[in-house]
Amino acid sequence: MPVPVRKAIFPVGGLGTRFLPATKSMPKEMLPVVDKPLIQYAVEEAREAGIEQFIFVTGRGKTAIEDHFDHAFELQSMLASRNREEALSVVKSTIPDPGQIAYTRQLDPLGLGHAVWCARNFVGMEPVAVLLADDLILSEKGCLKQMIEAYNEVGGNMVAVMDVPDEDVSSYGVIAPGDVKDRLIEVRGIVEKPPLADAPSNLAVVGRYIIQPKVFEDLGRFERGAGGEIQLTDSLSRQLGLQPFNGYRFAGRRFDCGSKIGFLEANIAYALDRDDMRDDVSQILTTFS
Ligand code: G1P
Repeated sequence: MPVPVRKAIFPVGGLGTRFLPATKSMPKEMLPVVDKPLIQYAVEEAREAGIEQFIFVTGRGKTAIEDHFDHAFELQSMLASRNREEALSVVKSTIPDPGQIAYTRQLDPLGLGHAVWCARNFVGMEPVAVLLADDLILSEKGCLKQMIEAYNEVGGNMVAVMDVPDEDVSSYGVIAPGDVKDRLIEVRGIVEKPPLADAPSNLAVVGRYIIQPKVFEDLGRFERGAGGEIQLTDSLSRQLGLQPFNGYRFAGRRFDCGSKIGFLEANIAYALDRDDMRDDVSQILTTFS
């Protein structure tokens, strides 16, 4: 069996300019879908997958994330004194065990690959998951759990993939698919944000990865790729042939919460998914046409 995945990296240094002014003084990862911040969905998905250590790569103006995963003493004592047990347990449920979360800063915005590389000393010589909170995935079994179950059979590097329409291909990392076995698709090539004419397929990378320590070595060469940035997909591409590399076509619906429409769609879908809101939301939706 491959070395188990126990740690996860959450790159949360991005500026979130697409959501200004909402993100002027609030990290975009704290934007709520219904009543929970995006970053908490990602952390819960990782926890469900068996992750024990959470590494956040943050930046300036992101302290609200650290506060979110800490005690809120005044709030907790007020809720306790008023016997608000339910609210209290919601507040406490966000708090990890001591030492389970580590924070480091990406000092310069040099790309996703660079953000992941910034976490290298917290990871050491073992595989690690990477979760992009912008990519929210509604599914019965969490996307990362699905991937880790498959990873435990095949090892190596792995990326979540989904089909996207032609007009969206150039916004993603795109794989050249090889052999297919159930949800696993052998990766024969991977390219970051190709023009449609150069795209090897319509299978786009979604923000869930399992990467091996060798990838960090490559990231540390600081080679620039698409957009002049250090790209995670490029380092993964340079590992082709050296270790197994698979795409995982996950079960579930993914929302691009880095875009306004995707974020709005996610709010509707997650509200419709909740027993306490479904009827009211469906009713409200019928009033629009
Ligand atoms: C990043 C990755 C890209 C991936 C995408 C998924 O791009 O670089 O390969 O397909 O996330 O959301 P970004 O959206 O940060 O530009």
